[in-house]
Amino acid sequence: MSQFFKSSIPSSQITSESAYLARGRVSHDRLSRRRLLQLGALALGSAALAACNSAAPTAAPAGNAEKATQPAAPSTQPDAGLPAPSKNTDELGDKLNTFEQITNYNNFYEFTTDKEGVATMAQSWKPTSWTVTVGGLVNKPKTYDIDDLRKKFTQEERVYRLRCVEGWSMVIPWNGFSLASLLKEVEPTANAKFVRFESINDPTHLPGQGGGFVWPYVEGLRLDEAMNELALMATGVYGKLLPAQNGAPVRLAVPWKYGFKSAKSIVKIDLVDQMPTSLWMNAAPDEYGFYSNVNPERPHPRWSQASERRIGEGGRRKSLMFNGYDKQVSALYNGLDLMANF
Ligand code: MTE
Repeated sequence: MSQFFKSSIPSSQITSESAYLARGRVSHDRLSRRRLLQLGALALGSAALAACNSAAPTAAPAGNAEKATQPAAPSTQPDAGLPAPSKNTDELGDKLNTFEQITNYNNFYEFTTDKEGVATMAQSWKPTSWTVTVGGLVNKPKTYDIDDLRKKFTQEERVYRLRCVEGWSMVIPWNGFSLASLLKEVEPTANAKFVRFESINDPTHLPGQGGGFVWPYVEGLRLDEAMNELALMATGVYGKLLPAQNGAPVRLAVPWKYGFKSAKSIVKIDLVDQMPTSLWMNAAPDEYGFYSNVNPERPHPRWSQASERRIGEGGRRKSLMFNGYDKQVSALYNGLDLMANF
């Protein structure tokens, strides 16, 4: 556990991991982040109160989400214009996870920390009338309506492995467009060095935003990482519009990094000159660094990253450096010590 938490939490409030597992209540995947959330909620108590008392905006940007009066229709209808998967495997020959697996085992803390509970809770959240504002250090700032984004940028099929920092993974056939194409359109200035992504802030309809972390969910990439062809703005999965639980209507898919770098339900993208502080860096800087490239050599402070559990498979498989995308991305990190810059 990080110093951050050690200093803040009375040991009597921490259930030991082995005791928890022995009671058979939760899997290791769920336990590790769930415990972090519990600890984070306690450790962040005063900071969260301070934020509540400040003028920090907490309301959803106008029109960016509304509570559905009816449960959302299951996202199973094909969406005209989005290509259905043309293959059953990724480029390594690994089988695609099923639509059911991909849409029923999710991390979306704005709803709940229960991975199997996100899909049900997200049914009543309708991310309609969505806009994404791209600004900061750019020549041509712009607010895009989600339909314009879908029409303007070429929608492609990209089969990517998603490797969660918790040690599970899936193979997902996304639909979406390259982040680089969007960034090129707004013309980053010479001072732009990083890209900051902000997810929806809607505590009225997103129960998880009632506490625990400093919301909204924020993530960041270095500008050259963001311009890498692999970085995808995902708008669909399996040829269907992205279901709410997977980060509708638009989320990142950055496959060589741990899954938490791929922010969901994005409303704002800013080009900045300083490294952005992500939600996870803020909550546990010793555990979740800015880069967070998949790296089997570098254990998480509380567990190994050498192997992973592919959802739908028995046993564990070896994790791959950069999640198997080393050819495409390793040059981005020439000269950088990846053990220190985690
Ligand atoms: N984005 C937001 N806004 N909130 C989240 O809780 N969880 C992250 C990432 N993006 C998260 C998020 C984590 S930890 C993972 S592993 C992936 O989303 C999970 O994506 P999936 O549910 O589509 O598999």
